[in-house]
Order: sequence, then structure tokens, then C-alpha cells
Amino acid sequence: MSFVIRRATPRDLKHLRRHRDGMFRDMGCDDEKALAAADRAYATWARARMRSGRFKAWLAIAPGGRVAAGGAIWLRQQQPGPRRAPMAPYLLSMYTEPEFRGKGLATKIVKAATAWSRKTGLTKMLLHASVKGRGVYERLGWKRTWEMEFPLA
Ligand SMILES: CC(C)(COP(=O)(O)OP(=O)(O)OC[C@H]1O[C@@H](n2cnc3c(N)ncnc32)[C@H](O)[C@@H]1OP(=O)(O)O)[C@@H](O)C(=O)NCCC(=O)NCCS
Repeated sequence: MSFVIRRATPRDLKHLRRHRDGMFRDMGCDDEKALAAADRAYATWARARMRSGRFKAWLAIAPGGRVAAGGAIWLRQQQPGPRRAPMAPYLLSMYTEPEFRGKGLATKIVKAATAWSRKTGLTKMLLHASVKGRGVYERLGWKRTWEMEFPLA
């Protein structure tokens, strides 16, 4: 089966929302109220950033036109530092519909996002990996870092 990887447009927002919602469900969230609120907030957030050019997404299209997988980058501003680019793409909302998993689609989407980021002159990408996603990123050469977090509540 051959898939086409293409850039998402604002008209694809419904697919991006479905992917993000599916991602949270697969990661174990079953709080319908919280999921619905997150979905609404994501729609507003992603739409605004698509307009400002700070959000780019890619979709994998199956023969027949079905959207099989997707993923996005958010161009996040970085604090100044020596040898630090002003922007770092943050990879998010990686999702492959269950029947299309294990066919290399997420891998292709990460590669498309990486190629775009490199071509744009950016020097480093970041992400927070789910358990299912870790293998995909590690095989592509992503490394764990010393980022830390502290719960305030
Ligand atoms: C994580 C996720 C996006 C991976 O999607 P995918 O399209 O199945 O990913 P790939 O096919 O590129 O890679 C998955 C596996 O298939 C293997 N694979 C890659 N290309 C392949 C091919 N052509 N044929 C067979 N297997 C292949 C990979 O080696 C990988 O192996 P692993 O399961 O041991 O890690 C998907 O499982 C998903 O949507 N999970 C729920 C949401 C989630 O966790 N998202 C990630 C957030 S960080």
C-alpha cells in the first residue's frame, strides 16, 4: 500500500483534532469532560498558530483518500543562549489510526517534519515521547536529555 505524505492545511483541522484526541485516549485518558475541553482549546490554539505560521502539520493519506496518520510541529521560541537558534520545533500530536500502525507512517511524518525544520535553518527539535512513540523516535536518532520538571500542585 503506498501512502502520500502531505502538509496539512487549516481545512484539515478536524483530522488534527481527531488525532490529538485519539492520542490522549491511547495514552490512557478517559475523562470525557477533560478530553472535550482539551479538544476545543486545541482547535483554537492550533488554528491561531497555523495562521501565524508557528504550527505546521503533516498527514499520511492512504490510497482512496483516508487520513491514516498525522503529526505536527509547534515553532516554539527559545530563550537566548550561545549557539541557540531563536526557535525550536516541538513535535506533537503524533497519531496513526490503529489499522495503519506498524507501516512506517509515523516514521515518515517525523522525517518530513525534520526535513522541513532543517531546510528552514533550525538546529534542534524537541518532543515529549509516549511509551508507544519512544521506539519510533529512538530509531530515528532522538536522544533523551536532562530536561526536568517539578510538580507545583
Ligand atoms: C506511536 C505511533 C504514532 C506510532 O505510529 P506508527 O505509524 O505505527 O509508527 P511506525 O510504523 O513508524 O513505527 C512503529 C513500529 O513499526 C515498525 N515499522 C516501521 N516501518 C515499518 C514497515 N514498513 N513495516 C513494518 N513495520 C514497520 C517500527 O520499527 C516500529 O516498531 P516498534 O513498534 O518496535 O516501535 C502510534 O502507535 C500511535 O498513534 N500511538 C498512540 C498515540 C501516541 O502514543 N502518539 C505518540 C505521542 S509521542
